Amino acid sequence: MKEIVVYPHPILRKKAEEVPLIDGEVRDIISEMFETMKEGDGIGLAAPQIGISRRIIVVSVDEKGFHKFALVNPRIVFFSKEKSIMEEGCLSIPGIRAEVERPQSIVVEGFTRSGRAVRVEASGLLARVFQHEIDHLDGVLFIDKVVKAERNRVEKELKELFSDSTVSG
Ligand code: CO
Repeated sequence: MKEIVVYPHPILRKKAEEVPLIDGEVRDIISEMFETMKEGDGIGLAAPQIGISRRIIVVSVDEKGFHKFALVNPRIVFFSKEKSIMEEGCLSIPGIRAEVERPQSIVVEGFTRSGRAVRVEASGLLARVFQHEIDHLDGVLFIDKVVKAERNRVEKELKELFSDSTVSG
């Protein structure tokens, strides 16, 4: 299990690097990510959250069946016009939850831990988790996308929770 990197650590704002080859090292990272996600009671995790700036995500979503898998170099190739609002949280931003509007369904492409190319159609919670985790790979956090009505509240909570670490940063 790895330590989860907490906001405002700068790695969370970096664009993560493509994985050129899915080798044993990458598979070890994936195993650590699954363990760390489980320990944190999360439903998704991106590699930068354990301090590794590479394009790897894991998800574990129990909705309309159980979906547990890792994706390397994931890419969203379709976003639905239809959107939905759901409350989100993040293991790297403990204590804060807020509503975020995102496309309701997506198609994502990437590679499994064994290096097989896959294409996944997702909607509802699974689509939500994919978008949240893939945003992490581009240095984007859910607090950047909070619905207007909750923005002030979230900013205030962020200041209260993380002002100490910002100062000592
Ligand atoms: Co997150």
